[in-house]
Amino acid sequence: MTYKKNILITGGAGFIGSHVVRLFVNKYPNYRIVNLDKLTYAGNLKNLTDIEKKDNYTFVKGDICELDDMIALFETYDIDGVIHLAAESHVDRSIKDPFTFARTNVMGTLALLQAAKIKWGGNFSGKRFYHISTDEVYGALAFDGTMFAETTKYDPHSPYSASKASSDHFVRSYHDTYGLPTVVSNCSNNYGPYQFPEKLIPLFINNIRHGKPLPVYGKGENVRDWLYVEDHARAIDLIFHEGKTGETYNIGGFNEWKNIDLIKVMIQTADRILGNPEGTSDKLITYVTDRAGHDLRYAIDASKLNRELGWEPSLQFEEGIEKTIRWYLEHQEWMDEVTSGEYQNYYENTYSNR
Ligand code: NAD
Ligand code: TYD
Repeated sequence: MTYKKNILITGGAGFIGSHVVRLFVNKYPNYRIVNLDKLTYAGNLKNLTDIEKKDNYTFVKGDICELDDMIALFETYDIDGVIHLAAESHVDRSIKDPFTFARTNVMGTLALLQAAKIKWGGNFSGKRFYHISTDEVYGALAFDGTMFAETTKYDPHSPYSASKASSDHFVRSYHDTYGLPTVVSNCSNNYGPYQFPEKLIPLFINNIRHGKPLPVYGKGENVRDWLYVEDHARAIDLIFHEGKTGETYNIGGFNEWKNIDLIKVMIQTADRILGNPEGTSDKLITYVTDRAGHDLRYAIDASKLNRELGWEPSLQFEEGIEKTIRWYLEHQEWMDEVTSGEYQNYYENTYSNR
């Protein structure tokens, strides 16, 4: 079958990537979706069992840092669009191991850009390289009501945000220097199903389920702006198709929460769903040493995306967090396989025999 587009989605076995892959595979049967993922600890093909047998879906295990492999991949699948999500994504890990973040997020992005430049060589018509980034590149805000706009100066603090900032700059440099048709979006904190339980929301839901301590960094006063992951995936679809080449779009939920307030909502909701008497899990809150360089507050002004492309979040936070908590509690097998490491056998047991 000839497809209308051949799209490479990197990091499609991760949290956000799996939602983007699912959306594209189901919504665009006339596109071939190639999911390229290294399957690091964060990659889980069990996130995609509902679509893995669809004709327009292909999984390739590979590393974005390997330039020759990326060039071959572009060639094999005649790639004309890239949605690049593959990354090391957890701030705490970046503090312990910054080199892996520089390798994957900076060098890996550079290798993909170079592969696109080589394979699309000067004839960029119908091509698009879409880089998915984070609001953390803008640094930290005070409690003063200000927000990050697309024009806010980059001021990354963690090794994670420094590596993402660097990759954003490389993407723009390929646009400005070689004319590569790029687009970038910077999104706030995502939440929803299939997030690796090292991040605040799935970690705490799982700990509540097991009656384990909830480690609150510092005083729990840091603020994050939360967006339901499927709303991010919808924004990615819109920007991929309608965003202007060379532009940046901020994506966010206009939904700021102080960590401790969010944690109390999670406790209340999870206790209710689990049938525990109100207040049961309050005692699990444990204040621990703050994260080094912990950014105080993030808040995204997503008005450009609304004004220019008509996007807005579809889900109210109260509805989204209830749905998310229910999902984790109802998918204990998924969580248990992740926490035991069992999920890492899925590729060997299934794909390698296909
Ligand atoms: P994730 O950690 O859940 O998934 C990352 C995926 O990339 C995994 O499947 C992993 O196996 C893969 N990967 C890592 N290194 C690779 C390599 N060298 N080659 C190929 N694949 C590799 O991350 P996520 O939370 O889904 O984030 C996806 C993207 O969105 C990242 O670029 C991240 O910076 C960005 N982002 C995340 C958030 C958030 O709240 N999670 C917010 C804004 C932006
Ligand atoms: P996280 O989910 O790691 O996302 P990010 O650091 O990219 O914003 O953390 C969200 C917030 O929750 C952040 O302010 C750090 C805090 N946090 C805790 O208090 N305890 C935890 O165990 C974790 C993982 C995070």
